[in-house]
Amino acid sequence: MEIGGIQALRAWRKGQSGTVALVPTMGALHSGHQALMDRARESADLVVTSIFVNPLQFGADEDFVKYPRPFTADKALCEEAGVDFVFAPAVGEMYPSAPEVRVSSGRMGEVFEGAARPGHFDGVLTVVAKLFTLVKPDIAVFGLKDIQQYCLVRRMIEDLNFDLELVGLPVVRDPDGLAMSSRNTFLNAEDRSAALAIPRALEAAVEVASQGAGPGDVERAARVVLDAAVTAGGIDVDYLSLVDAGNLQPCPNDFRGSALLLVSAIAGATRLIDNAPFEF
Ligand code: PAF
Repeated sequence: MEIGGIQALRAWRKGQSGTVALVPTMGALHSGHQALMDRARESADLVVTSIFVNPLQFGADEDFVKYPRPFTADKALCEEAGVDFVFAPAVGEMYPSAPEVRVSSGRMGEVFEGAARPGHFDGVLTVVAKLFTLVKPDIAVFGLKDIQQYCLVRRMIEDLNFDLELVGLPVVRDPDGLAMSSRNTFLNAEDRSAALAIPRALEAAVEVASQGAGPGDVERAARVVLDAAVTAGGIDVDYLSLVDAGNLQPCPNDFRGSALLLVSAIAGATRLIDNAPFEF
């Protein structure tokens, strides 16, 4: 396994003729990242994992400096996952000066997670575009847990004609149904029990959709479960919305196509996100 910044990556990339899969990360790698790397390994001859804590996607009130950087453990996990090149550039290499030209995430980047974190998705798309340009991957693997990020990357690939295949890995769940997240470690037993209303709400929506319900009833089924949980206490809902997967706009009742039910809720003091896909 090789490790390096931009110069080393370019030299390595020139010498490769096989297909390349990219797994972009900010490090602090866990089993979710491992699953992305396993998928990348299955999909291409060579795997590049980028480890770069991207300052552009942190807001002024978010702690870029304190973001965990366990580089030794991350390298070991990459080695174990069969990664061929760990791209770990310095901030000064990626951004020698504050970038004037950035990718705009547009309206899709201003809603949901983007409303809570203004500018976040512009920062994400800018660094992902740079990673695509530098690594030149044939395939890029992202987790579907961060579904808004995935939808925006897909839209950027379409809108800016990046020549690569985007692969989304389904949300991985604990046995109790809660989507796996590094934030789950902040939940005490009571918070966790309240948080289980999130997967229950999604399941209720999936159940009514399987009986042929339309968008309005699907969203309502989830809302009933979440409203009951809010009344019982321990959880607050930030948003719950059934949206068109192509543009993240709310689905009208006669909607036909791919939709996503997006949810964010705060259990105890921890903000969690989850989602489920639907076809109408
Ligand atoms: O999902 C992440 O870890 C980051 O947003 C990404 C895609 C690596 C860009 O910095």
